[in-house]
Amino acid sequence: MSKKLLIGTGVAFSLLFSSFSQAFAEEPTVGERKQVDNVAHRGAAGYAPENTIAGFDLAVEMKADYIEIDVQRSKDGEIIVIHDTTVDRTTDGTGKVGDLTFEQLRSLDAGSWKGEQFAGEPIPTFEEILDRYHGKVGILIELKAPELYPGIEKQVAEALKERNLDKPQNEKIIIQSFNFESMKSMDQLLPKVPIGVLTSNLKDTTAEALQEFSTYADWFNPSYGIVTEELVNQVHSLGMQIGSWTVRSQEAADFLFDMKVDAIITDYPDYVDPRN
Ligand code: G3P
Ligand code: CA
Repeated sequence: MSKKLLIGTGVAFSLLFSSFSQAFAEEPTVGERKQVDNVAHRGAAGYAPENTIAGFDLAVEMKADYIEIDVQRSKDGEIIVIHDTTVDRTTDGTGKVGDLTFEQLRSLDAGSWKGEQFAGEPIPTFEEILDRYHGKVGILIELKAPELYPGIEKQVAEALKERNLDKPQNEKIIIQSFNFESMKSMDQLLPKVPIGVLTSNLKDTTAEALQEFSTYADWFNPSYGIVTEELVNQVHSLGMQIGSWTVRSQEAADFLFDMKVDAIITDYPDYVDPRN
């Protein structure tokens, strides 16, 4: 039985029970409205330097459901957490991530650009992030430009397996990428871990494209500019969930609530859950 069918069986039971409770529900409360997963993009990137422990700790403090991290690889093979394929924008160094050794990357200051109070924040390793946060908060792992790092899928899978995170039960792990072939491989390597595909391209929203994604993906994660109610319904009817990005205003968060997406990926977790 495919992963999708197994998950589908669970979803069917949940839907059955939730439809009973919904039948007796009154106006949704603020808390109920916030059932959408609140995903802190690159950490709480609106408030702290992206992809750093400072940002991820803040996201946990703000009670995000997930942190979103971008992973790439150093010249000497360490999986590290950084968004751009160069270090220029978010550190005091220059050069391509894949041309620098871990020692060189680790010596960089990835905090000062966001504010002097963050001076000295290092680029974290993937394993540090797994060890520090698994079980405390969900982790949405984006393989950033995996085409630059052949074999990174296997390395990511090994790191998860070593920690028993390849069969997430209560520990929420999702792996996503703009590179669909990479996600197909990831699904083969980790059949029990939910896979997401990222796009901002309308051509990826046709019925055919969505059908193809649903053969290996559990999440369809578009930029909010291409989200419509119809798209959300189509994604749901194929048994996938939908998470959308990147929220940087209250209006964008409200739009995605109205669209009834399953996850909102935001630089500002408080726009999604004002209780935080
Ligand atoms: O999680 C979605 C989002 O992170 C995709 O865009 O460029 O911020 O990695 P980007
Ligand atoms: Ca990302």
